[in-house]
This record gives sequence, structure tokens and C-alpha cells, in this order.
Amino acid sequence: MDRDDRDWWRHGVFYQVYPRSFQDSDGDGVGDLKGIIRRLPYLRALGIDAIWLSPIFASPMADFGYDISDYTGIDPLFGTMEDFDALIASAHDSGLKLILDLVPNHTSDQHPWFIESRSSRENPKRDWYIWRDGGADGGPPNNWLSEFGGSAWAYDEASGQYYYHAFLDKQPDLNWRNPEVRQAIYDVMRFWLGKGVDGFRVDVIWHLIKDADFRDNPPNPHFLEGRPPHEKILTQYSTDQAEVHGVIAEMRAVTEEFDNRVLIGEIYLPLHRLVAYYGNDLRGAQMPFNFALLSTLWSARSIEEIVADYEKALPPGAWPNWVLGNHDRQRVASRVGAEQARVAAMLLLTLRGTPTLYYGDEIGMRQLPIAPDQVQDPFEKNVPGIGVGRDGCRTPMQWSTEANAGFSTAKPWLPLAHDFARENVASLGADGSSILSLYKALIELRRRLPQLVTGTYEAIAAQGDTLVYRRRSNEGSVVIALNLGNEPAMFTSSAIGFNKEIMLSTFLDRQGEQVEGELELRANEGLILGPRQD
Ligand code: GLC
Ligand code: MG
Repeated sequence: MDRDDRDWWRHGVFYQVYPRSFQDSDGDGVGDLKGIIRRLPYLRALGIDAIWLSPIFASPMADFGYDISDYTGIDPLFGTMEDFDALIASAHDSGLKLILDLVPNHTSDQHPWFIESRSSRENPKRDWYIWRDGGADGGPPNNWLSEFGGSAWAYDEASGQYYYHAFLDKQPDLNWRNPEVRQAIYDVMRFWLGKGVDGFRVDVIWHLIKDADFRDNPPNPHFLEGRPPHEKILTQYSTDQAEVHGVIAEMRAVTEEFDNRVLIGEIYLPLHRLVAYYGNDLRGAQMPFNFALLSTLWSARSIEEIVADYEKALPPGAWPNWVLGNHDRQRVASRVGAEQARVAAMLLLTLRGTPTLYYGDEIGMRQLPIAPDQVQDPFEKNVPGIGVGRDGCRTPMQWSTEANAGFSTAKPWLPLAHDFARENVASLGADGSSILSLYKALIELRRRLPQLVTGTYEAIAAQGDTLVYRRRSNEGSVVIALNLGNEPAMFTSSAIGFNKEIMLSTFLDRQGEQVEGELELRANEGLILGPRQD
């Protein structure tokens, strides 16, 4: 692949690094930029094309970097601007793109903009945030709830008004209706793009604009007991407002002041609303993250339906993408089980669209249960005991059998998985049948077979636990057959065609086996079939 090609983000494989947990270099138990540099050869060998870094900017770390106090400064915990410059240079030298996290919806309450804004009602930055008088009853201005528990409005004694925070009260929302705010963030984007950053993943992009009249949100008639309390009301007026698309088009235009950059949006919405984030005439985000696989029932029929719905909903010319995990969601290996994690990998890397991997999923890392006294995540601290905690998917990367899994010489900021002595990069890398070897083989096959990247997606009718589809381009076609069940399955159909042979099994052991219209899938097995090579 020509990496300077305009299509790099369509053709490449993305990989999310959660910097706190990837590699520590200075012995403080927290991952950092020098640590990431040290691990670039690993990422290169894995075969990925682009790294997305969760926030590395100056922050009081109330939400582990998603509360920024200086958008153009590196937090000392992660290193210095020199380290960053070295990271981007080494990444580019290794042929890897580097994407940063842009967090424009809110700042830290310690950001100088908010300190000014808060200082008085007359301050010129007052309107940079969302300040409102209390409601008629003396309470908050409306019924909007914080995703991290409680009202989304915090009262400021000194100035007698409330400010809005969709997340922690330490994360006040910026007022995106204010043109100065927009320009300030666009300048932040230009700063990083000017340094050669290849694009942004934009945090909670669907939150940026709120209802101009701050109307009360309606109750959620489908609220389930045991779910987080903010789900008691819908977010009809607090998120996904029509005007947000104008803002996103402006952000996109900023990225286009530079060559070949990409804008990715974090958006949790049903598919039919998600696709609006490609924008009018595709002038919005190039990749509105598609999280459909994160919440679907893990069954052949429901995945088949999601793929069909998504393919159908995509506007003409829009490029699809798929995600199996991130720093906010339960690890895929725990959600679907260790056996199905391999099938999930084959699915992610053979569907039509750019795949984004989450660090550690390639070694099958599982959700780690976190003891109450070890909890770090503010979401879990505010809403304890119902399983919302995100620490379990953020545990340190398991590199080797060394102390602390080779992650750090010090006690890591979150506990390590107990099985790291077996489940680590060094051990799994040496095992030709491991999940890590599978990920490498899948990425390598994707690189070799253009039909897996640019080919069409065609569903092939199947029953029960079997999911079958074809990817076809001018270069030829391949068939993917996945068994999502833990019983062997037999698939007989002329639709897969004759004279096929197995190119890859999720067990890495059937390459070259001939198939004649009848396919035996072992329990939890996925296969990629190509034309017979004789
Ligand atoms: C996004 C981030 C999440 C963070 C939240 C608030 O959803 O992925 O980690 O807590 O935004 O910034
Ligand atoms: Mg460190």
C-alpha cells in the first residue's frame, strides 16, 4: 500500500493506544510517550497502519485526560513536546500514521478559559461555557442528567448561576454556539495538524450542540432497572441536534487545509442517525465510528442484520468502519468469550470498512474485575456497583513474563491480569496457533487481498450459528464463513462456489484444505476461502 495515498484511512487498519496503559518508560507505573516509541516496532510487526492515541494533553486527570487544561501542551505524566515530536517522527518513519484525540465538547474546570469564565458574569469568556439561571423551583435549569451520575448542572455560588457538564462537574461543556470557541478549537486542530498529525478522533462529537432553548428531556419509557441512572431520560434536546452538522463540516474544512488527514467521530447513536454524521455531500466526518458490534447480541443472525442495515443506511460514497472494543467498553474477549474472540477478529478484519483494534485485544486480554478499593474510574466511583466501571478494560498491556508483564518497573496504576505470565506478547508471539498469530495472519491477508479492503460485501444465506459472506472485487472474490456457536456446523450451498480452498482458519491449521461446496466448520471456527491454488 502506498501510505501517502489519499485512501490510506480507507485501506489501513487502525489501532487504539490508551497511553496510560501501553508502556511505561520512566518507572512511575503509568504509560508514556517514550514507552509508545519503544513499542512501535511491535505495532509495525503486527501490521497496523495508524495509531489513535487517547488524550496525552495537560490534564488534572479527573477523567484520565478527557478533562484537558491545555490543548496544546503534553501532560508531564506522558512526557514532553520533544517526546511527542520524536513519537510522530518515529511513527512516520515506520510508515505509521498518528491520530490524536480531540476533546472539544468540554474542558477541565482547571482550564484557564473556564477559570476566567467562572470569575464573573461579565467576563468576556463567560459565554464560552454554558451558564444558566436556576429553574423556577430554585433547582437546576432543566432535567438534563450527567452521564456520570446526577444532574448535569453544577451551581456556582460566587456568580449565582449553573454551568452545564454532560460528564463530570470537573468537565464543563464549552458553548459551541459561540464563534470564538469554535475558532479557538480550530486553532488547536491547526497546531497539531501543522505538526504532522494525520487526523483526529473527536470525542463525543454528537454532544457539541445543545437545544437553543434548553428544553427538558423526555423520560425514557424503556429504562431498565440496574442500568446507569442517566438513561432514565432520553437525550433528545441535549445531543444530536441538527446544527451539529454545520460545526462538523467546519472541523472537516480545517483538516482539509492540510493534505490527506482524517476526521473520525465518536458517536453512540442508532445506525440510521449515525450515518448523518458523514454530513451533507460527505462533508462531515470521514469515519463516524460504527459501534454497532459493541452492543449487539453475539449471534450470526443479529450480526448479519446489523451489517445489512449498515450497508443499506450508508450514503452513496460513504466509507464504512467497524469497532470491537475501546477504553469505555467491556473487552471483546469477555463479552463474547475467549473462543469467539477469534471469530470476532476474523469478522472485524474481513467486513467491508476500516477496522479499529483496541490495544490488547490482539492478545485476547479480558476484562479484569477491579476490587472496590482499586477503582480509578470516576464513572464507577459516582455510580458504584452496577458494572459501569471502565478500569477493567484499561489494564496494562501484557508484554512478557517479566515483572509487571514488562509494562513497568513500578507497580502499575491499575492491576495486571493474573494470567499475564501466559497471556503476553512474547509468549503468544512465539506460538504459531495463538490469537496474536491469528491477528497477524488476518492483517497480512488483508494487505495481500485487495478484495478484503475494497471489495463489495455480499451476504450468503445461512442458518443457525453460521454467518457467511463474500467479498468481491476485480481481483477476485473470497468467502468468509464464521461459526458463532460452540457446536460444529455444516454449511452446504452452491453459493460459495466450487473449487475452493481454505486460506485461513481461526485455528490457523487448515490452510490449503480443499472444499467442494460442502463446508465443515468446527465449533467456534471461522474460515476464509479462496480459489483453489493448483
Ligand atoms: C468519551 C470518552 C470517555 C470519556 C467521555 C467524556 O466518551 O471516550 O472515555 O469519559 O468521552 O470525555
Ligand atoms: Mg511513565
